Amino acid sequence: MKNIVILISGRGSNMEAVVRAAQEQRWPARIAAVISNRADASGLAFAAAQGIATAVVANKDYATRAEFDAALQTVIDGFQPDLVVLAGFMRILTAPFVEHYAGRMLNIHPSLLPLFPGLDTHGQALAAGVSEHGATVHFVTAELDHGPMVLQASVPVLSDDTVASLSARVLSQEHVIYPQAIRWFVEDRLTVAQGAVQVDHSKT
Ligand code: GRF
Repeated sequence: MKNIVILISGRGSNMEAVVRAAQEQRWPARIAAVISNRADASGLAFAAAQGIATAVVANKDYATRAEFDAALQTVIDGFQPDLVVLAGFMRILTAPFVEHYAGRMLNIHPSLLPLFPGLDTHGQALAAGVSEHGATVHFVTAELDHGPMVLQASVPVLSDDTVASLSARVLSQEHVIYPQAIRWFVEDRLTVAQGAVQVDHSKT
């Protein structure tokens, strides 16, 4: 049984998709905790209602990024995670923190990386005039929105799309690929070699 700790900052719809998939598909894993850097993250209520432990480590209570990351790491490690899942966790993480969870921390980014790292990915995609957009699940490395990619999903960009319509189309795919990628991790199907992820599809 693997322990998963999920970090959120807001609504937590990806966290919710992961929690539901873990329950419905009976993963060999438990969601040990949902932790937020904001006390007002609405996703915390869903997690608590599911009987999942919740915690808040508020970045505003710490003077530096290093102090915040150290405090967050202590709380996360109290739940003995095999995997840390960033699910709309809106913080840039320090290198020591990322290094501590090397090979056991995943993120979902709402673009087809390497296109459009950073914020406002949907606005960036519309401004660039691309015909396809999407989302990427990747292992977290020290460089923001980089790291070995596990899974991507693409959606069409329509001529009348707005940031709202495009982000909703991408989000519905996020809710498919993030649980899938995490399930592969907990089933020990993922290996990373030379910066590339291999998925073992031979297991039943
Ligand atoms: C998602 O689009 C995710 O890809 C991005 O932030 C958003 C979080 O949404 N990193 P939610 O909190 O999971 O609903």
